[in-house]
Amino acid sequence: MDRNYSQFSVGQARANQAAQELLKAAVKDILSGPTSTASSFSIADIGSSVGNNSISELATVVRCLDEQGAGDREVSVTHVDQLANHWDQLFQSLAAMPGGYPHVRTGARGGPVFSYAIAQDMYQQCFPSASVDLAYSGITFHWSSVALNAPDHIVAQYSAEEHFKQAAEDQGHADLLQWLRMRAKELKPGGHLIATAIGSCDDATYKAIRQIFDLASKSWDKTLAEGHITSSEHASTQFPLYLSDLKECLELVNKELSSEYEVIHSTGGSASKKSSAPAATELPAIVTSTFEFLE
Ligand SMILES: C[S@@+](CC[C@H](N)C(=O)[O-])C[C@H]1O[C@@H](n2cnc3c(N)ncnc32)[C@H](O)[C@@H]1O
Repeated sequence: MDRNYSQFSVGQARANQAAQELLKAAVKDILSGPTSTASSFSIADIGSSVGNNSISELATVVRCLDEQGAGDREVSVTHVDQLANHWDQLFQSLAAMPGGYPHVRTGARGGPVFSYAIAQDMYQQCFPSASVDLAYSGITFHWSSVALNAPDHIVAQYSAEEHFKQAAEDQGHADLLQWLRMRAKELKPGGHLIATAIGSCDDATYKAIRQIFDLASKSWDKTLAEGHITSSEHASTQFPLYLSDLKECLELVNKELSSEYEVIHSTGGSASKKSSAPAATELPAIVTSTFEFLE
């Protein structure tokens, strides 16, 4: 991410805020689950970037723990992002961001809150198995593990060439499954995953997202035509994104990961709760939320 991410991520902040109520509900559910007597609570922040959005968002979790009578639990938050992340900015925000999760517990009775950061590929396992209570990810899993380099569009999914579109979809699905499988391994039984996503939950949102990337692609073509970049720079520029819709995500989870997750809440599509599933406490739960990209 650019060094100015915190300044220019208002839309992303809004997407994070969409998770507020889901985070509170998840904390309550975890506290009444199989780890109800634990003395610590571990949170993973997957794709944290410089933390400006998740640090304030996760304050909700710490406050909720306190309100639910778990104020003495030791909390750890581990931020995960790529090696090239601007980690210096994350550490500055952890130290100084008003209202951030490290600063909301006051008084002698509050358990300590620890922060960690790891440079790790989110498509790999990032934590020991069954060690995370709450995995949180603000608009991250649309970043693919590979860039496909379609010749006619900066997002392969929107290429006019059918085989690029198909390859993007196949890659997007494989990535999402891998990402979810890794989180399922990391979560404790009864742990929750909350992920907000850039995607589309209706035709209007789909069109709006598409228009943005079509425009960016055309601008890049124009930049080439005007001689500002070389053709190899043009050809090698690709946004490694796959923007799925919520229905597609839920179908994948229900079809491929039904033994690993129970979907207990989703927005923008139909929520599904497996009536024949084992008790919710035996499975990690996934809570998904989409947001509309444009006002
Ligand atoms: C759109 S930003 C979201 C940042 C933050 N969660 C927020 O809500 O503002 C996506 C983040 O995912 C990170 N990311 C992308 N691919 C990744 C990977 N394979 N492993 C770890 N982090 C990755 C990017 O570096 C970036 O910081």
